[in-house]
Amino acid sequence: MKMAMGPRPSATPKVVEPLTRRKAWKALQAHYEGVRGLHLRGLFAEDPKRGERLTAEAAGIFLDYSKNRITDETVKLLIQLAEESGLRAQIDAMFRGDKINFTENRAVLHVALRAPKGTSILADCENVVPQVHAVLDKMTQFSNRVRSGEWKGHTGKRLRNVINIGIGGSDLGPVMAYEALKHYSDRTMTFRFVSNVDSTDFAEAVRDLDAAETLFIISSKTFTTLETMTNAYSARRWSLAGLGGNEESVAKHFVAVSTNAAEVAKFGIDTANMFGFWDWVGGRYSMDSAIGLSTMLAIGPENFRAMLDGFHQMDEHFRTAPFEQNLPVLMGLLSIWYNDFFSAQTVAVLPYEQYLKRFPAYLQQLTMESNGKHVTIDGADVTYATGPIYWGEPGTNGQHSFYQLIHQGTRLIPCDFIAFVEPLNPLGRQHDMLLANVFAQTEALAFGKTPEQVKAEGTPDSLVPHRVFEGNRPSNTILAARLTPETVGKLVALYEHSVFTQGAIWQINSFDQWGVELGKALAQRIIPELESDGEPSLSHDSSTNSLIRRYRKTRETS
Ligand code: F6P
Repeated sequence: MKMAMGPRPSATPKVVEPLTRRKAWKALQAHYEGVRGLHLRGLFAEDPKRGERLTAEAAGIFLDYSKNRITDETVKLLIQLAEESGLRAQIDAMFRGDKINFTENRAVLHVALRAPKGTSILADCENVVPQVHAVLDKMTQFSNRVRSGEWKGHTGKRLRNVINIGIGGSDLGPVMAYEALKHYSDRTMTFRFVSNVDSTDFAEAVRDLDAAETLFIISSKTFTTLETMTNAYSARRWSLAGLGGNEESVAKHFVAVSTNAAEVAKFGIDTANMFGFWDWVGGRYSMDSAIGLSTMLAIGPENFRAMLDGFHQMDEHFRTAPFEQNLPVLMGLLSIWYNDFFSAQTVAVLPYEQYLKRFPAYLQQLTMESNGKHVTIDGADVTYATGPIYWGEPGTNGQHSFYQLIHQGTRLIPCDFIAFVEPLNPLGRQHDMLLANVFAQTEALAFGKTPEQVKAEGTPDSLVPHRVFEGNRPSNTILAARLTPETVGKLVALYEHSVFTQGAIWQINSFDQWGVELGKALAQRIIPELESDGEPSLSHDSSTNSLIRRYRKTRETS
């Protein structure tokens, strides 16, 4: 891959044509009126090959999107919408290093984190791929030294425990990847993740650990985040207390992952033990940067690089495949179809793979921090719904809790089922049982059970309505051979680019997150009000004032 052109300057972009005035948008509105009443039963009955036709495959990821409430015309119009929205040009702008995150004057180049050696991607006219590989090499050396026991703690003991301290993108990706790839991890080591400023998180993470065997990775892009810095100082105190208070021990037990060398040095971590990344990597797009150091320590450098290769394969597919066969584009367009035409408010992500138990939580930040926006790139209020709520649980557990609402409730909840052909821990017939549940659920959601079928089972008339399944509940099925580091990379990139597709069409900036700032600033104002010795003079609203007073009063008496 060669990107010859330099980045475009960051100017406030203009919406050339509002989304709702696009021809394809209007055509989709009219089309929706015609197809909203169609049932998947009918769509499958009239096209026996539908289940084979409405599928796409790339880089070993198979997507069956036939159980969606769409016709060929829907797909055609959605792709037309992508084209009218200039999706191809927007993809090219991202890969070219244009500062498409214009509110922060930044390029968006997580794709460079997984670009192979020897390729070129420019940020501010500089090829960043060599820098990426220099950091990867440094991570590799460090990981090998820790994993082999060559890197010892202050007392000479081998480091067996790794605690990543970070929050948001500096936590959710590492946690998800560690859980997803536990099968490939070094089981002689213990990995824990501390994110919450709630002291229980830290206390529980260290309660049974020996400081002499414990390495802390302080992961923070900015190195100023309240939660992370508070936990980092608690870790420093805990570590020093366990190591006889010798400040020199910090160099052996603390490393940092950050873009902010000055703050890292201020904390007392030698910047030689800092793994850098760059402002063109958004927090929620950073699990494959040095933020993934804990992942590399757990699964080893080779597996980490296999994961990066998986990411890259999906990047190349997204960049080059025609939209009709482009997995992230198809998934993004389907999300828009339900969100904006069917007024669906959520998407359920249902991995039938225990190791992916944290994948929905990871996706929540990726999708909602990216596309939870109410203004277009030129600052006008959007007149349509943006980012749906992503949520989910691994199957089959979800089936015994919230699936009732998906099957028989009043809301339309499009679902993504994710499954693998080969189990990582085969046990008797259990994997067939697991996969039977995936196929059964998508079938039940799509086709349901008619009153006639229910009656034919001998159900008393009074119970028939309760036992009817309307069906016509849409789902995607994502199937891959086996959960490997490479597959995890592909899956994450699939959703990253689906998010990009949605944001590009909604004409929003998917790469800033100003919505998290107000709460942070108010908390900083309230902290001294909670801590002051004398009664603070409060000037919040009456609810906040009285909550603060109640907290202070109750604390005094408890
Ligand atoms: O929640 C806001 C946010 O800025 C996220 O985007 C980011 O992932 C998280 O905070 C952590 O930030 P940092 O890595 O700078 O500590």
